Amino acid sequence: MTTPRFRLGILGSGKGSNFVAIADAIDAGTIPAEVALVLSDVEDSGILALARARGLRAEFIPPGKFRTRLEPGAEALMAARLREAGVDLVVLAGYMRMVKPPLLDAFPGRIINIHPSLLPAFPGLAAWEQALAARVPETGCTVHYVDAGMDTGPVIAQSAVPILPGDTPQSVHARIQEAEHRLYPEVVARLAATLPRLA
Ligand code: GRF
Repeated sequence: MTTPRFRLGILGSGKGSNFVAIADAIDAGTIPAEVALVLSDVEDSGILALARARGLRAEFIPPGKFRTRLEPGAEALMAARLREAGVDLVVLAGYMRMVKPPLLDAFPGRIINIHPSLLPAFPGLAAWEQALAARVPETGCTVHYVDAGMDTGPVIAQSAVPILPGDTPQSVHARIQEAEHRLYPEVVARLAATLPRLA
């Protein structure tokens, strides 16, 4: 009998390049897990199209009337979908809303995010622009557990990148994303190998 694999639920609102890095690492055998479900609050997001193109279950959750978070009923539906799919770890990959109690309470200690700065520096939106404007010599990315705050949960791992003369917001973000695509699969692999499966 084969042991059931650790199951990931991936949430995203955008183009989905971190999802692709994780899915590629699974296909290459470096993450001991499978993607059980991909959910998005954006119906025409790249991440949903990319997940479907790989034959994965991918679903749009209508977000409701708020801009920065899901309506509670929508978030409860999201949590229910993830539980029904047997998800062990919720991976936020470009998910652009705050996570609230319906989801936090369904997966305590089991939700992670990647943020494009060296937290606690530059939480919030367009963190690469904040870093450039602050004239810091380096920035990077952070994988952290998600709590009720904005980019405030305990840090799991970070990767630094330099800010170089002539950099633009776009070039800094591209350099950070290269680091993200290395760091996130590494962290997900480590957690998949060490966390017990949820009952
Ligand atoms: C990444 O830069 C991540 O740090 C931030 O949102 C972006 C998502 O990019 N949370 P993608 O959708 O994975 O390409």
